[in-house]
Amino acid sequence: MTYDLISRFNHWIIALAMIGMLAFGIYIEDFAPQGPEAGALLQTHKAIGVLVLVYGLWRVGWRLARGFLEPAAPVPVWQDRIAKLTHWVLIASVILMPLSGMTTSLFGGHDIQMFGLFIIPGFAENKAISEIAADAHGAIANVLIFFIVLHVAGALKHHFVDRDTTLVRMTSGRSTR
Ligand code: HEM
Ligand code: HEM
Repeated sequence: MTYDLISRFNHWIIALAMIGMLAFGIYIEDFAPQGPEAGALLQTHKAIGVLVLVYGLWRVGWRLARGFLEPAAPVPVWQDRIAKLTHWVLIASVILMPLSGMTTSLFGGHDIQMFGLFIIPGFAENKAISEIAADAHGAIANVLIFFIVLHVAGALKHHFVDRDTTLVRMTSGRSTR
């Protein structure tokens, strides 16, 4: 069994987008100079994030409709469980990260400007909801980073140590090596 072209395309687009958005968010929070420039960066972060949600809904929907594949090669039960848990955490984050970000922003009373094309207007300010969502946004990001590291380590272990087709069935789609 291998991943169809759409699954592979979706996986890599969203993988790139999520890793990029994590780096972008951390840069804005911890490294960017404060002031109007940081505000502009945050607008870009928010607008790209909304696009990630739109594409992510399709990407996640496609996976849920098709189901996950069984392991490419036999693995111990505990590894299979960790891999499955990891996939569920990763796939949930594709929806939960943008949703928590949007909740932070909209309940903070802020508009989301979609690249100057149109505006998603902020709601009446509700600080409590906005702050809970902001905490969730940061916390889910940390959980996500942990699981991405685990996920990539697993992929590399399969490729270089086990020498099975786990990684190549997600790249070229080949199911033999
Ligand atoms: C698509 C996936 C997204 C990822 C991976 C992501 C990631 C991050 C990260 C890592 C931070 C820094 C958090 C911290 O250090 O506490 C952050 C901050 C932020 N993000 Fe996102 N983000 C995403 C989407 C969005 C969206 C769609 C919005 C709003 C429309 C948004 C709004 C914000 C805001 C307002 C902050 C700074 C405020 C705060 O957390 O207190 N993000 N994001
Ligand atoms: C460079 C980074 C990455 C590598 C090398 C990688 C590699 C892989 C491989 C080889 C598989 C197939 C596993 C199998 O056949 O059982 C896979 C599946 C998966 N990956 Fe990644 N991945 C990366 C980043 C990400 C990121 C950032 C996300 C999260 C958003 C993600 C989400 C998933 C999910 C949900 C699956 C299950 C199948 C699917 O729905 O696509 N991956 N990944």
